[in-house]
Amino acid sequence: MSSTVLAFDRVTNLRGDRTAEAGVLAGERSAARVGEAIRFEGVRKSFGDREVLRTLDLDIPAGQLVAIVGRSGGGKTTLLRLVSGLALPSHGRVLVGGREVNGLQPSVRLLFQDSRLLPWQRVIRNVGIQRRPNWRETAEEALAHVGLADRARDWPAVLSGGQKQRVALARALVSHPRVLLLDEPFAALDALTRTEMHELFSRIWQEHGFTTILITHDVAEAVALADRVLVLRDGQIALDIPIDLPRPRQSVGSAEAARLQAHILGKV
Ligand SMILES: Nc1ncnc2c1ncn2[C@@H]1O[C@H](COP(=O)(O)OP(=O)(O)OP(=O)(O)O)[C@@H](O)[C@H]1O
Ligand SMILES: [Mg+2]
Repeated sequence: MSSTVLAFDRVTNLRGDRTAEAGVLAGERSAARVGEAIRFEGVRKSFGDREVLRTLDLDIPAGQLVAIVGRSGGGKTTLLRLVSGLALPSHGRVLVGGREVNGLQPSVRLLFQDSRLLPWQRVIRNVGIQRRPNWRETAEEALAHVGLADRARDWPAVLSGGQKQRVALARALVSHPRVLLLDEPFAALDALTRTEMHELFSRIWQEHGFTTILITHDVAEAVALADRVLVLRDGQIALDIPIDLPRPRQSVGSAEAARLQAHILGKV
């Protein structure tokens, strides 16, 4: 059994004992080295004459949670596609875990604004879609992890938007991603559900230790979740700032958070 799988099992077993969980998992996280570093070296991406990303140099350390904000059409989704291997740079190179990305990356998972569940498969089969050995047990564990243990037999159509996104998150988690890319996954949710998803995602990210790039239009969300916020403007990084607020960040309404949000908004 790999150390990653072991870490995941411990997480599941320790659920409910938050203090012990935090202590053990902090150790697990560094020991398991789940996250992989991401690096952009002189990356440019054009579609025909349109240059969407221009000379992007970026280092994201293993396990970091980076939020990217920027105007519509600014190249955010394109950047994620380059990390996942769904698209290749026109110039330069992208590295994940020190390896150049030249095709789909098995260690990288993407979550989108819509959950993209298969409507003709029950929840459990959507989560265990890869049908690996013991897929059913693993899928049940992942569903429990996102608080949906009792919905395994349901069809996707009867779930709420937030529940569908949690199923999509569970589906990503079963493959033990080293990098999780989120393309506005909370954008379509109501404010209360979105806050719940922030707490859930934050906890899971801290437990698992994968590297995350979160695309969002919501500057408050970026400040609430991320270690670091980038503003992408005209295909370049217009701002790159650390968010050093303590976690958990219930106090997103704090003066410091408001100052950071205003600073970021000024650069978008
Ligand atoms: N496959 C493609 N072929 C041609 N042009 C593309 C392709 N993919 C993206 N583009 C163009 O690249 C630009 C950036 O698109 P991208 O989807 O990365 O923006 P975005 O920042 O994610 O925008 P939004 O916030 O609206 O999601 C747009 O002008 C878009 O039309
Ligand atoms: Mg986009």
